Amino acid sequence: MKSATIGVMNNYGFGIDVGGSGVKGAIVDLDNGTFVGERIKILTPKPSTPDAVADTCRQIVEQAEWTGPVGITIPAIVKQQQARSAANIDKSWIDTDVSELFHRHIGPTRDIAVLNDADAAGIAEVAYGNPIARKGSVIFLTFGTGIGSALLINGQLYPNSELGHLNIDGKEAERRASSAVKERKDLSYKEWAKRVDRVLKEYEKLFSPTTFVAGGGISRKHEKWIPRLTCETTVVPAELLNRAGIVGAAMAARDHICP
Ligand code: BGC
Repeated sequence: MKSATIGVMNNYGFGIDVGGSGVKGAIVDLDNGTFVGERIKILTPKPSTPDAVADTCRQIVEQAEWTGPVGITIPAIVKQQQARSAANIDKSWIDTDVSELFHRHIGPTRDIAVLNDADAAGIAEVAYGNPIARKGSVIFLTFGTGIGSALLINGQLYPNSELGHLNIDGKEAERRASSAVKERKDLSYKEWAKRVDRVLKEYEKLFSPTTFVAGGGISRKHEKWIPRLTCETTVVPAELLNRAGIVGAAMAARDHICP
């Protein structure tokens, strides 16, 4: 049976997560936030221009034989379906009409929702991940190439918070404490946790959150660094790990979340 047919019979959606190194997509079971079948990954084209990335997304949708709505995350501010920043992606994304772009590549009549990658991961965590993410004023963070953020109030998203770009002692937070910085500078967990702590204390001062939820690949090793943090606010690891972006994208397409 074709996946499109399966999608109609079940509560399935499709999400694509555009990252710095890979573009990943999967059919998502929206009853429980799991993948149905294989996750498809294609290396992010270089340069990662809008047309090259959108064409990669088309290939993923075709490979999955998916004909339903598609949600797509990008590592950029998405305001009224226009990309408004491009920190870790080709600069030509700035001011791209992402709705026009993806409809042109994937299909003009297709339901397509595009949103920021950390925002997508945040809403997915609320729906299917750590239950703590659902309560109070939560700052959800993804540590990866940059630092992504999603502001959540009792599970409701305030989009495009971009806390990774907050200037702390003359340097952007993500240039101090992303997991890419840890790798590049070969920092130990102890050294890196000190940097994360500095960043979280600044966020704490400005936003007084109930909880920080830490996501991104490095949250898999949370026991190596979360216990070292000394900020007052509780920090908990995200549970969805690298599924979060794809799942959040699929949710956005279903719920018509188009910031
Ligand atoms: C971008 C954000 C993105 C984050 C994680 C930052 O550099 O500005 O839009 O959410 O990286 O990918």
